Amino acid sequence: MFLRTYRRSPQRRLLRALVFIFGALFLLDLLTLLKHYREFSRNLLSHTYTELSTLPSPVQNQKIFICAQFWTNAKVIHDRWGQALLDLVGVLGKDNVYVSIYESGSLDNTKDILQVLDNVLAENHISRSIVLDPTTHADEINAGPLDEQGNPRPGWIQTTTVGAGKEMRRIPYLANLRNKALKPLFDLHSKGRNFDRILFLNDIVFQPSDVLSLLATNQGSYSAACALDFHHPPTYYDTFALRDSQGNSTIMSSFPYFRSLDSREAMLDGRAVKVQSCWNGMVAMDPSPFYEGLRFRALPDSLASKHLEASECCLIYTDMAASNLAGGGIYLNPAVRVGYTVEAYNTTHAGPDQNFVSSTGYVTGVWSNRIKRHLIPAVSAQAKEVAKKMERWVKDGSNSLEKREENGRICVIPEQHILIWNGWKHT
Ligand SMILES: *[C@@H]1O[C@H](CO)[C@@H](O)[C@H](O)[C@H]1NC(C)=O
Ligand SMILES: *[C@@H]1O[C@H](CO)[C@@H](O)[C@H](O)[C@H]1NC(C)=O
Repeated sequence: MFLRTYRRSPQRRLLRALVFIFGALFLLDLLTLLKHYREFSRNLLSHTYTELSTLPSPVQNQKIFICAQFWTNAKVIHDRWGQALLDLVGVLGKDNVYVSIYESGSLDNTKDILQVLDNVLAENHISRSIVLDPTTHADEINAGPLDEQGNPRPGWIQTTTVGAGKEMRRIPYLANLRNKALKPLFDLHSKGRNFDRILFLNDIVFQPSDVLSLLATNQGSYSAACALDFHHPPTYYDTFALRDSQGNSTIMSSFPYFRSLDSREAMLDGRAVKVQSCWNGMVAMDPSPFYEGLRFRALPDSLASKHLEASECCLIYTDMAASNLAGGGIYLNPAVRVGYTVEAYNTTHAGPDQNFVSSTGYVTGVWSNRIKRHLIPAVSAQAKEVAKKMERWVKDGSNSLEKREENGRICVIPEQHILIWNGWKHT
């Protein structure tokens, strides 16, 4: 009796002390995070340019090449994108912009809507190139894997679909369209007319202020600056092209997204985040690498045949880095959020601060990021599988004429994307 209480009470005291210490640490952590949250919100606000009458200094006197490509987006352009573009041109000044839109093979009346937009741009004397290409996906596919001389066409691979023969890849097709949309940039360059920025716009909900904030990223010093894009917030959308400062995919699809220390800390501070690749709805780029010959491309067909694929929007950065043309840095700017629906846009601009993360979301985000970092291996089984396939591809090619080198390793994922008449599919 005496002995047991004697033994129990120091244990209980120890337990009580431990509970107290953990409670105190927990509270201290929570208070520290809430303090960081206030800095985060302040930083976001200070990098958001809502004043439209005077351009932020990094945007003054800048010539902007606005570039977009469309396929079956009539409703989006009609309901909001066209007007948002006109608003943007109004803010940047029509003498400072060139609008290049490339549409092809839409299955709805996108061509009619773009024709109307073209007319409005013409009436307002805005330099532009609006190409309405009649070639459909079906035309591309029906052309078949061999050209008129019977030689294999690039961009066609033997897939794993039973009995399908060769099928047409989606990414080389998209890369080609992106280069076509850039053609006026090259034509104007050869005539001595140059731009300070290329602005790539997806079919997103955006406002002129978002573009100003994007163009002013890192005081205007960058090789590329991207927005964050949302379809179903708080989850971000474009995981195919986003890689952190170490080249890793994001570790979680909601805030604070990143694994690498640099990227994570910048995101938690609400500052522009250094990354190796990003696209996410809207991108501002320094055009000089393109003037030097940089173009969008896809992985080689022989590599894609191994059931691997990579976004042309990620490979553009690894190519830039490989030729030492990305020295200005690639940033994702959390002060710029765009949406694929008005609801998604509104949800990520909530409250008086127009914030996209609540204090609760901030704290739980930090905690789940910590847990995930400890539980999820840095190099996933999937990444190992990809690395192994790429090694085998190099080895298999040692006695072929093809030069087998791929600098876009960080972009590669184990998927196969095939073009079909009404979109695309996985195999
Ligand atoms: C991802 O991060 C780990 C370390 O955290 C690193 O070893 C690896 O090389 C990184 N990059 C890629 C592409 O896996
Ligand atoms: C989004 O916000 C705008 C401006 O605050 C408002 O006019 C609009 O009705 C909202 N739309 C939706 C779908 O929430």
